[in-house]
Amino acid sequence: MSTYSVGYFVGSLAKGSINRKLSKALIKLAPPELVLQEIPIRDLPLYNHDHDANYPEVAQRLKQAIAGVDAVLFVTPEYNRSIPGALKNAIDWASRPWGQNSFARKPSGVVGTSPGAIGTAVAQQHLRSVLCFCNSPLMNTVEAYIQFTPGLIDDDGVVNNDETAEFLRSYMQEYSAFVQRVLTVLPRAS
Ligand code: FNR
Repeated sequence: MSTYSVGYFVGSLAKGSINRKLSKALIKLAPPELVLQEIPIRDLPLYNHDHDANYPEVAQRLKQAIAGVDAVLFVTPEYNRSIPGALKNAIDWASRPWGQNSFARKPSGVVGTSPGAIGTAVAQQHLRSVLCFCNSPLMNTVEAYIQFTPGLIDDDGVVNNDETAEFLRSYMQEYSAFVQRVLTVLPRAS
């Protein structure tokens, strides 16, 4: 069986993040060919292009982590109908210096949860626009807008609702098939 490495980003820095719980659930429910590892964003300073000539080590590590995986997955909250600044900052770091955009041709998926009824839908649309500009082949469907109700997912990533668990399982299966399709057309470097 071929395996595919997936670097996932959690868009929230909060200790009790419901999106971190969701990321743990996705790891549990992913098909066996996907090997997921977090790409941390917490320690990145704020980006500006003065850094382009000399990227700090933490930002170099970010770019190396993305280069080292077959695909990326964004698990993000919605802040004021967009993505949190911390996540946008990480994307900005990874997209530069000019000509060295880490997301180019790297397959991606977007998912998120919030207590609100539309479950991060607007933030995800913003993120899709950003990833499109970054030339990342992005899974169009399945879309996953998860409304987080109390206790829906516990700290270990156990989903306490069968329908949601089944939906997240099918999301990860579809994501895996998407990654495999993209890598067939754009093979990974050997
Ligand atoms: C929010 N929240 C929120 N929720 C939403 O559905 N749409 C929104 O636009 C916003 N905006 C927003 C802005 C800011 C600054 C905060 C702190 C929160 C609520 C948000 O969904 C909730 O706090 C989640 O728990 C955030 O996800 P994490 O950090 O727990 O993963």
